[in-house]
Amino acid sequence: MNQNMRNMEYAVRGKVVITADSITSSLKTNPSAYPFSKIIYTNIGNPHSVGQKPLTWPRQVMALVDLPDDVGVDNPNVSKLFPQDAVERAKELKSYMGGCGTGAYSHSQGIRGIREEVAEFIEKRDGGIKCNPDDLFLTNGASTGIGHILTACISGPSDGVMIPIPQYPIYSASLALLGGKQVGYYLDENKEWSASIEELERSLKEAKKNGVNVRAFVLINPGNPTGQVLSSSAISSVIKFCSKHSLILLADEVYQENVYDPNKTFISCKKAATEAGMLGKFEMVSFHSTSKGIFGECGRRGGYMELTGFDPDVQAQIYKLASSGLCSGIPGQVMTSLMVKGPKPGDVSYDSHENEKKTIFDSLKRRAVMVSEGLNSIEGFECNAAEGSMYLFPKVDMPEKAIQEAKKQGTNVDTLYSLSLLEATGICVVPAAGFGQEPGRAGFRTTFLPQEEEMKQAVELFKSHHEQFLEKYK
Ligand SMILES: Cc1ncc(COP(=O)(O)O)c(C=O)c1O
Repeated sequence: MNQNMRNMEYAVRGKVVITADSITSSLKTNPSAYPFSKIIYTNIGNPHSVGQKPLTWPRQVMALVDLPDDVGVDNPNVSKLFPQDAVERAKELKSYMGGCGTGAYSHSQGIRGIREEVAEFIEKRDGGIKCNPDDLFLTNGASTGIGHILTACISGPSDGVMIPIPQYPIYSASLALLGGKQVGYYLDENKEWSASIEELERSLKEAKKNGVNVRAFVLINPGNPTGQVLSSSAISSVIKFCSKHSLILLADEVYQENVYDPNKTFISCKKAATEAGMLGKFEMVSFHSTSKGIFGECGRRGGYMELTGFDPDVQAQIYKLASSGLCSGIPGQVMTSLMVKGPKPGDVSYDSHENEKKTIFDSLKRRAVMVSEGLNSIEGFECNAAEGSMYLFPKVDMPEKAIQEAKKQGTNVDTLYSLSLLEATGICVVPAAGFGQEPGRAGFRTTFLPQEEEMKQAVELFKSHHEQFLEKYK
């Protein structure tokens, strides 16, 4: 067996979640086995699994794209079941597929017509900066794109990639699997999870001293698990750092639509690079996904990556790597198209589509505030606001006896706490250790994705459990 695979860890689906799943099974046979009737899953950014409804229009178009023409777009009764703009959009997507439909492989970078739509979306988002569809790869969620680029970077144990601490664990897991080195740089919790250039230089210098050939740098904006939204100048500093040290910038921008703080806006690394006069002068890959934002269509596995500043020969190798997987799933490609190009003003579905999106966004925003205020009201908890993304990452003062007990059990206090929370309340969070954190810090990550009433109850349960936990380990 590949020992790298054994060593790989993926906390978001780790021990606490496995225990939660087995509790769910025992509750089926013995509903009174625990003091709750079901698990509240706040461990993963998977909105539809915890009650978020799919947007109607994209699903209508998807259904029509998938159906054979005679029972779908060309059926005489189609207008009784589907709005006209969904039928037209489905026909447009079908025309991109040249009669092959959704059951055929596409070009390995993804369907050309969809890449052109993504390029238009990026140009509009960034105020007109050009985007070439040939630099776009449609991917199965952001995950496969990230996997491809890390594979391209790591050729042996001395190659490494700088990743934030705390980070989203796909980076640590993929690096472990590829046998490369994680080079952590700390985000400063006391400064809204920002990273200083001094910290970046320190981390790089230390890695070089240890013989690591650092090849790339990961920036997650808006942050997961930390929720910060970076300013243009903060991004520019990172860009200059990457350019100075010839590092490929991996700009993970999957939460670009999830910005709740009215004083913050999402600025893409591409836009910041252009403003700094650096676009094309260093290598950068940016990632987006249908899994997050307002769509929350995680199971569709849609997304894209855009490469800028790459040598064409290197890009050709990345194309070869993508080709080895043939193509990304066509439903994901279609969902990506619908995410970047919705109904236009004046179309019959425009108002209802915009209203559905607004309802979801407003509710996410209310939950972000409600849960962070709730957590901060617990004595011993400190939690930065979620300016963006879908998560809160509170720091929890743990009683010394609990820390000792965790050591005795061969685990960390985050896991002890998260399991205790799970067994007492049914709330399933991820121990903070799974994301990395400053030594001595403890806590967990929670989403605020369950629906509002359930999330309100969860806040009360976080409080009551913390009191019980302190009592137990006082
Ligand atoms: C920061 C970040 N990047 C990438 C991903 C991968 O998501 P997907 O592959 O579904 O697009 C996630 C998922 O939670 C994430 O939080």
